Amino acid sequence: MMTLGIETSCDETGVALFSSEFGLVAHALHSQVDLHAVYGGVVPEIASRDHIRMLLPLIQQLMSDAGIDKPDAIAYTAGPGLTGALMVGGGMANGLGMAWDCPVVAVHHMEGHLLAPMLEENPPKFPFLALLVSGGHTLLIAVRKLGDYTVLGTTLDDAAGEAFDKTAKLLGLAYPGGPLLASLAETGDEKAYAFPRPMLNKPGFDFSFSGLKTAVMLEVRKAEAAGDIDSRRADIAASFQRAAVDTLVGKAIKAAHAEGLTRIVVAGGVGANRLLRSEIAERFSGEVFYPRFEFCTDNGAMIAAAGALRLSDGRAATEIKAEARWSLDTLRVPTTG
Ligand code: KG4
Ligand code: ZN
Repeated sequence: MMTLGIETSCDETGVALFSSEFGLVAHALHSQVDLHAVYGGVVPEIASRDHIRMLLPLIQQLMSDAGIDKPDAIAYTAGPGLTGALMVGGGMANGLGMAWDCPVVAVHHMEGHLLAPMLEENPPKFPFLALLVSGGHTLLIAVRKLGDYTVLGTTLDDAAGEAFDKTAKLLGLAYPGGPLLASLAETGDEKAYAFPRPMLNKPGFDFSFSGLKTAVMLEVRKAEAAGDIDSRRADIAASFQRAAVDTLVGKAIKAAHAEGLTRIVVAGGVGANRLLRSEIAERFSGEVFYPRFEFCTDNGAMIAAAGALRLSDGRAATEIKAEARWSLDTLRVPTTG
């Protein structure tokens, strides 16, 4: 079965073809980063308009490059995300589904992220603990089987990626700052500043990044007032990254132990962070799985793969769904249609 995947939840237009027999066949991505960079963040209206402009040509190119006339099924991101952007993908998927007379399945964006390592050669087996860290979410999830997700912890304020992006902004880096901050950190001393590891020693699996952000802001202001911010930037970046990574890794390992899980999946944009990857591999006694770097951030391949798994599980949607907020917990109730 050949599934066309469509991702339009935020600022990337992603499309892919996934074969249930042979795995990923082709994928393509158009990033809107340059369009939003001038505003310092994603502008929802611009995102929707650009998805409309790019989506159909991207699908046509993908299908003709792969020599496919018509897929057997279509999977699209139905949420969570920006409502207008989601509606572009949902409208396109359902229109094409009607034209091609094929099933259309609504995919949860975070389920796409957590199943993204299934695209790799050595995919994780169920059950596993998922650490989902993106620009909009920070989640620790016990994944027992497909569709059986228990959210163990989440952030009480900023998402992990948001904390990276806001800290990067404080340091004068461009949007989106996460990867830029990570590169700058490579040249700094991570022990230069003793930033807090928020909630690390508290019971439970929730996160909070606002205290860490404030601590960074105070040091930035101090360095600016002293006139030596230029020589401090890399040290602040490195010390922030170390504190954020210690918190994420510490909580994830604790949760895996508490749930008796011997596998951890790290996914979402912040999962591309090299320190996070090396640290969790070093400190966790079980197995750790990641998607390849390009499938950590938003893409169509993870949506095509999650949709194909869902369809083989007997689920297809017939409505155009666009849910700005949508809890992963609700996926446990099987829906057929
Ligand atoms: O999953 P994603 O592409 O979009 C959302 O669904 O939010 O994640 C984007 C986030 C941004 O906050 C970006 O700064 C962060 O992932 N990110 C990183 C790195 N690469 C991307 N954060 C830290 N280190 C990185 N290497
Ligand atoms: Zn995402």
